Amino acid sequence: MIAKTPEQTMEYAEKYAKTLRAGDVVLLKGEMGAGKTVFVKGLAKGLGIEDEITSPTYAYMNDYDGVLYHYDCYRLKNGAQAEALGLTDYFFAGGICVIEWSENIADVLPENCKTVMIRKLDANTREIVAE
Ligand SMILES: Nc1ncnc2c1ncn2[C@@H]1O[C@H](COP(=O)(O)OP(=O)(O)OP(=O)(O)O)[C@@H](O)[C@H]1O
Ligand SMILES: [Mg+2]
Repeated sequence: MIAKTPEQTMEYAEKYAKTLRAGDVVLLKGEMGAGKTVFVKGLAKGLGIEDEITSPTYAYMNDYDGVLYHYDCYRLKNGAQAEALGLTDYFFAGGICVIEWSENIADVLPENCKTVMIRKLDANTREIVAE
């Protein structure tokens, strides 16, 4: 789909959330500033989470009551580091995991992940492809 505003990205993510099941791991792909964190805000809303979603860049992962685990692996070097920090345990904890910069921990991702790709077309336009 094409989102012309951050709000449209969030609305799409809110609907996408309804297609997810407990235990799903979603890899969010897209360059810096593509809108991955914006997407997670809508996703959380769709899951009934009322907390404010903030980027977990420094914490690596934010846990929203075991319902949603929001990762930002930008600062992780590899999967072993994620494992050492205990971050991989949550892949099997029964919540939904959504991961920014999963490329950095590709070697420890579970099988059967879902992927959402966000591509910047111009300042406010994004192409979003979910597979
Ligand atoms: N259609 C759109 N959808 C999503 N974000 C948009 C859109 N148009 C403009 N933006 C802006 O793009 C930025 C996206 O920022 P966001 O933090 O979500 O990116 P990100 O992909 O998570 O980046 P990072 O890799 O640094 O974590 C926001 O400032 C947002 O307002
Ligand atoms: Mg982000």
